[in-house]
Amino acid sequence: MQIIGMLRHVAMACGAGQRPLCSRWTSGLPVRFLGTSSPQSPADASFHSASFSGADRPQVLITGGLGQLGVGLANLLRKRFGKDNVILSDIRKPPDHVFYSGPFLYADVLDYKRLREIVVNNRITWLFHYSALLSAAGEANVPLARAVNVTGLHNVLDVAAEYHLRLFVPSTIGAFGPTSPRNPAPDLCTQRPRTIYGVSKVYTELMGEYYYHRYGLDFRCLRYPGIISADSQPGGGTTDYAVQIFPDAIRSGKFECNLKASARLPMMYVQDCLRATLEVMDAPAESLSMRTYNINAMSFSPEELAQEVLKHLPEFQISYNVDPVLQAIADSWPMTLDDSSARKDWGWKHDFDLPELVTTMLNFHGSDTRVAQAN
Ligand SMILES: NC(=O)c1ccc[n+]([C@@H]2O[C@H](COP(=O)([O-])OP(=O)(O)OC[C@H]3O[C@@H](n4cnc5c(N)ncnc54)[C@H](O)[C@@H]3O)[C@@H](O)[C@H]2O)c1
Repeated sequence: MQIIGMLRHVAMACGAGQRPLCSRWTSGLPVRFLGTSSPQSPADASFHSASFSGADRPQVLITGGLGQLGVGLANLLRKRFGKDNVILSDIRKPPDHVFYSGPFLYADVLDYKRLREIVVNNRITWLFHYSALLSAAGEANVPLARAVNVTGLHNVLDVAAEYHLRLFVPSTIGAFGPTSPRNPAPDLCTQRPRTIYGVSKVYTELMGEYYYHRYGLDFRCLRYPGIISADSQPGGGTTDYAVQIFPDAIRSGKFECNLKASARLPMMYVQDCLRATLEVMDAPAESLSMRTYNINAMSFSPEELAQEVLKHLPEFQISYNVDPVLQAIADSWPMTLDDSSARKDWGWKHDFDLPELVTTMLNFHGSDTRVAQAN
């Protein structure tokens, strides 16, 4: 009964011309045949009526949404598509300001049935899969990283293929390795990373592209550089120093860096990263010559970042206490990415270079400190 229903669904999609490669859908669906979904929870029901009133706006789900990037992405998407059309999810408990700012659900990406239930009950059409263990966190717990980054990906790919979702999964500079070209790393080159994070992201890129060619899944992927954000904490990556330096510089005038002074890596301000994510999801399918793109903005070392901070805070001091695990990871990553395809295909252009980044971050933490002192 379920199989017939699904074949009918595929036939309708093909008839409507929704899938450029939809003839391939009939040659084996990536569907796991489960029993009926568990009953809808009250939390799901509470935003049904407001969300899905017939407009053809995307209905969005973000997994792993309580990390460094997810809340900012939800804010951006809610401005564009409406608050109730964007559901944040995670396995962590949301803080008040997140919980009351729009729909939030518990979703463990290792629970395939729960993902299906959320997609069906909320008529999700776009999925941003942010759940992951990042480079440093992954090396600290390889079995968990393998589960979340690989098994979680399998679940997301299958749900997205089954329900014809547009799927965004970020990749990373960590998907390159010591044998990749480093200055710059092109879109297509040798990728032999030596972290579980990097290996799982190469697998993500390849599996997403495989599902695109095999099943017509609308998979889109950007390789993010290290992302620098002011109002959210990084989740255990090698580039985290470039986030932490700003509050430390403002509060104590000092910062101890866990990478070498010369460790040059590609970086991007969060606003550029999230805008790129929305732009590539918005891009017409015919403009995309690839499914996985590098995006680049600036590239700097801790020493160069400190020099820029010194222009604003002449007393600032940086010291180095190098973590050999993190330094080995940084040494295996590119210094900069060649993102000419993204610029050509869908018009990618970054706004923030190093001077704007430093001014923005110091202003944010400076005003933060003034508020804290006033209270
Ligand atoms: N932040 C960066 O600098 C950066 C750079 C390159 C790529 N990325 C990618 O962007 C995405 C988001 O990154 P981030 O910095 O927000 O990550 P983060 O580590 O800050 O957050 C990841 C989130 O995933 C959640 N999570 C963990 N296990 C889960 C599970 N079983 N089910 C559901 N959620 C689970 C965590 O609770 C956490 O909130 C990731 O895929 C990451 O690889 C980030």
